[in-house]
Amino acid sequence: MALSQIFHSEKRKYLAEALDNNSIAIIYSGRQIAMSADANYPFYTNNNFYYLTGISEPEVVLILMKNSQGLFSEKLFIEEADLEKEKWVGKKINRTQAKDISGINEIFYSKEMSKEIKCSKKPGVIYFDFMVPKHQSFKTEDDDLKCLLKNCVLKDLHPQFSKMRIIKTPEEVRMIKKANALTKKAFRTMASELKPGMFEYECAALFEYCVKNEGADGLAFETIAASGKNATTLHYVSNRSKTKSGELILFDLGARVQGYCGDISRTIPVNGEMTGTQEKAWNIVASVQKELINAYKPGADMKDLQELTKALFSDKCSKAGLLPKSGDISEFYYHGIGHPLGLDTHDLRPEGDLVLAPGMVMTVEPGLYINELRLGIRIEDDVVITSKGCEVL
Ligand code: GLY
Ligand code: MN
Ligand code: MN
Repeated sequence: MALSQIFHSEKRKYLAEALDNNSIAIIYSGRQIAMSADANYPFYTNNNFYYLTGISEPEVVLILMKNSQGLFSEKLFIEEADLEKEKWVGKKINRTQAKDISGINEIFYSKEMSKEIKCSKKPGVIYFDFMVPKHQSFKTEDDDLKCLLKNCVLKDLHPQFSKMRIIKTPEEVRMIKKANALTKKAFRTMASELKPGMFEYECAALFEYCVKNEGADGLAFETIAASGKNATTLHYVSNRSKTKSGELILFDLGARVQGYCGDISRTIPVNGEMTGTQEKAWNIVASVQKELINAYKPGADMKDLQELTKALFSDKCSKAGLLPKSGDISEFYYHGIGHPLGLDTHDLRPEGDLVLAPGMVMTVEPGLYINELRLGIRIEDDVVITSKGCEVL
């Protein structure tokens, strides 16, 4: 199950419509970063590139061109096969595969690129994505490119990507649903093995084994397996502690399927039973999440939903005798209620206030983090906004 050629073609067409006449857009998949003499860091494709092409290999370049009459063309540049290198790292994508995956007909080798961007065909505007990490942005030290850039107006593609990626197609929603289904299944297998004395990293390793075994690409993000007080650190990923009977353990987990992320949090007792206070706190988080899921609907502003979360926590904690001494709930709840989810776990979103609209996929993740009780509880699910409300994925 991969995204279709049509999906990528439509996204390129949509992007091209937003470009000025007499312009080119250059989008790069990224390059490998050396970790030591003979090893690289794991490669993560520039997700905007992947969104437009379906290709997740380094050193591939997409060029979209729009001529002065507004006619649009597209070209993809891949690396030529290197038989010596193949012996070490395996085969790279070839022209047929690149065409089949992306639906782009004009596939060239990288060495032919200078011909395509030479000065004589100078466009008025060149678009780059200014927000991607440096290793995923085009190498502007290239001589041909330097020449091309002279006297050209540079424009940023990032706002356009944010606008496009915030609304998911049904195909994308299916991918996220699948990523969550695998996350859920792997979590259940892992949780059934949990017992006091197990190390947090054992839980995380078992989860990773299970998602891969179920057919996921791998993890959407580093698994958080935070027992006891460790759970008050929101992105605790060292996972080195031994779990203890009587403590809770917070899991924040996600499988990745065809690039799309799942993002689920569950908090459970290590020995299978909660104490009275733990249960009281857990019930508060669960009931706040339920109310929030009802409030996620078209037109709802994420800023207001954050305020609603704080008000609900204040009220419920106060009634349960769990309010901090200062009375300020932000001592116990100190993150946002949710974020867009997609190819990135914290997916692209347009700047400013986010007002929910159909097709957005968002997390709903209230949490309480109470040092004195040595606990952190987060319950996180993902929803797609529908015409009337939302559907839990
Ligand atoms: N898994 C990271 C987050 O929920 O934000
Ligand atoms: Mn999340
Ligand atoms: Mn999460």
